Amino acid sequence: MNTEKVTVDEQQILNEIFDGLNQIQKKLPSKYFYDEKGSQLFDQICRLDEYYLTRTEMMILKNNVDQIAECFGDDSIFIEYGSGSSLKSRILLKNIKNLSGYVPIDISTEHLQSTAASLNERYPDLDIYPVAADYTKKIEIPDIKKTVKRRMGFFPGSTLGNFLPEEAREFLAVVADELGENGGLIIGIDLRKDKEILEAAYNDKKGITAQFNFNILHHLNDQFGFNFNVNAFKHYAPFNEEHSRIEMHLVSSEEQTVKCRNEVFHFAKWETILTEYSHKYTMEAFQNIIAGLFEIDKIWTDEKNYFAVLYLKTVL
Ligand code: AVI
Repeated sequence: MNTEKVTVDEQQILNEIFDGLNQIQKKLPSKYFYDEKGSQLFDQICRLDEYYLTRTEMMILKNNVDQIAECFGDDSIFIEYGSGSSLKSRILLKNIKNLSGYVPIDISTEHLQSTAASLNERYPDLDIYPVAADYTKKIEIPDIKKTVKRRMGFFPGSTLGNFLPEEAREFLAVVADELGENGGLIIGIDLRKDKEILEAAYNDKKGITAQFNFNILHHLNDQFGFNFNVNAFKHYAPFNEEHSRIEMHLVSSEEQTVKCRNEVFHFAKWETILTEYSHKYTMEAFQNIIAGLFEIDKIWTDEKNYFAVLYLKTVL
């Protein structure tokens, strides 16, 4: 995008970024973490000792796979929101009986194609209907060849925590509508726990999360022609007790200006850019988000109560 001419779409994207940087608390959309380098860094985060989320959720899924698979019933379709490489769904796919189809939704067409190909090899009888789309917006579920008795969604990883509570509710309203009457959702959420454990997970000793945070600036420099001096920013990720969330920031370690096209952004020393929220739920807070949309049918958790996988049913 480093050309002089800017298309209408590109200008819209830039305007969203500029708007965020013009607010009193500067902000950048978290989706800009995930270019190729950012996705690799995120994979590394998932394997860090301090980042208990991924391995705890995988363990919960594995330990309870029979019960979770049973929730699907016969002749259901399995819709995965943000499927990536479908690592977690693979645990379930082989255990669900008489599945009428698997519908992975992901923004990245390449990711979808390679995952569908590898799943096809592993499960030749599984009908896969990939949908390349932004899963936060309403999508058309493809026509399924076999009988479909119900729709079951899957939204692991505590990705819900990256939305503000009102955005989480809006998103779940879209999902409830898509899943319809008698629909179900298996969702993973990170639970509130000691501040020390939470802060360690987002401030790991190897500095991978810091690199992931800095990558948002590299991405904006490379893709949109910003001139962020990445070395003049520090990673900062405290737990906000009041809002029960980790807040990831980039702190400007000096007074500086950053430019992109005709826009100039001024940073005072120690001013921050907010790059991500990661909410940590109590069951009560989670119940408030789903109220009137879903009811909790089952909860599985780990020994330490760090993470929960829930089976929700639509209330329609
Ligand atoms: C994708 N999401 C659930 C991660 C989280 O824990 O909120 C993103 C992340 N940010 C820093 N580390 C991981």
